[in-house]
Amino acid sequence: MRTRPLKVALLGCGVVGSEVARIMTAHADDLAARIGAPVELAGVAVRRPDRVREGVDPALVTTDAAALARREDIDVVIEVIGGIEPARKLITSAFEHGASVVTANKALLAEDGPTLHEAAEKHGNDLYYEAAVAAAIPLVRPLRESMAGDKVNRVLGIVNGTTNFILDRMDSSGAGYGEALDEATALGYAEADPTADVEGFDAAAKAAILAGIAFHTRVRLDDVHREGLTEISAADIASAKRMGCTVKLLAICERAADGRSVTARVHPAMIPLSHPLANVREAYNAVFVESEAAGQLMFYGPGAGGAPTASAVLGDLVAACRNKLNGAKGPGESAYAQLPVSPMGEVVTRYHISLDVADKPGVLAQVATTFAEHGVSIDTVRQQGKDGDAWLVVVTHSAPDAALSSTVEALRGLDTVRGVASIMRVEGE
Ligand code: HSE
Repeated sequence: MRTRPLKVALLGCGVVGSEVARIMTAHADDLAARIGAPVELAGVAVRRPDRVREGVDPALVTTDAAALARREDIDVVIEVIGGIEPARKLITSAFEHGASVVTANKALLAEDGPTLHEAAEKHGNDLYYEAAVAAAIPLVRPLRESMAGDKVNRVLGIVNGTTNFILDRMDSSGAGYGEALDEATALGYAEADPTADVEGFDAAAKAAILAGIAFHTRVRLDDVHREGLTEISAADIASAKRMGCTVKLLAICERAADGRSVTARVHPAMIPLSHPLANVREAYNAVFVESEAAGQLMFYGPGAGGAPTASAVLGDLVAACRNKLNGAKGPGESAYAQLPVSPMGEVVTRYHISLDVADKPGVLAQVATTFAEHGVSIDTVRQQGKDGDAWLVVVTHSAPDAALSSTVEALRGLDTVRGVASIMRVEGE
């Protein structure tokens, strides 16, 4: 084994960074044996230097992340600061100064992944980012390496733990969205500002990264159709239950049937209770990957948290260090397919629509005609009377999302429709 250590710079020492530092120290001998040389934490960049960080030598702590990232003696930079800037400048500077980079930064990869990949390529370094998607669950490496010889057609899953916790609570206790969010906040699952999770931005960034790798195509955050779960009511959950379904916030990346384009979307959807994703409870994540040769694979586990995210970071650190030691290089960006990303209107989906209507002759016919006029075929209709009014619950067959949403608009304009109580897509059948 080489005795001269490989040097690592850690940018950020919060929940994830401190776990990375702890495990690097606790498992130093094992890591050295697996890599073939010791790894030394050579610097830790933080915003608040006065905070006590157990297991981190105070002499290594600096507030000058830029100086640390450009140190010529650093072999690998671990970036766990998050956000776009200064993370982007720090990562590109690390590449320019000879380091490989391990990052957990989903927002930056989804916003500007190509810039990072190009900088890594230009300087002959590695860019690893397993921790950016679903923390400890291996997804990036399986898609990037294990499945590199296969053709992936679909990636579908639950990639946000906070929203899965909220929906699980709503489903199991009948709680409304606000109450379930409060519980998620009290238990530390939701952040003080939960926007990134509940509005689907976090899941959309992960969908962009997964779609890009799966389809060998550049997919950016803006290409991902995004709907959060703030509008989901206890009544929606109850309605899903009556249909033998539950509601999940899904990330869905698909290759079109003709193979000429792809789509990526994040939105709440009803899935049957018999579907394996329906049993993904609390803050767990799970992702299905469907490919031509392998068939259907399912990845499941903790998708958030300090230690699970650190597990993914350290796996990448070992890979980057091994490459440094052997003069090798890991996989670069693979975007050769350059498939266009189609808009949501072209995605073929199914809707579950709940209508508040007048209970009188001809209403059902009028509603059915509206669906027919938009080329949407009805699968099932259920009516529940209530004092001269009725609830009409319609589930459609598959149709382009644009046709379904214009049907809903037309339904809203009918005199006999008092209101569209809920609209939800149905997946997983
Ligand atoms: N906030 C995310 C989640 C974890 O709840 O899954 C980090 O992406």
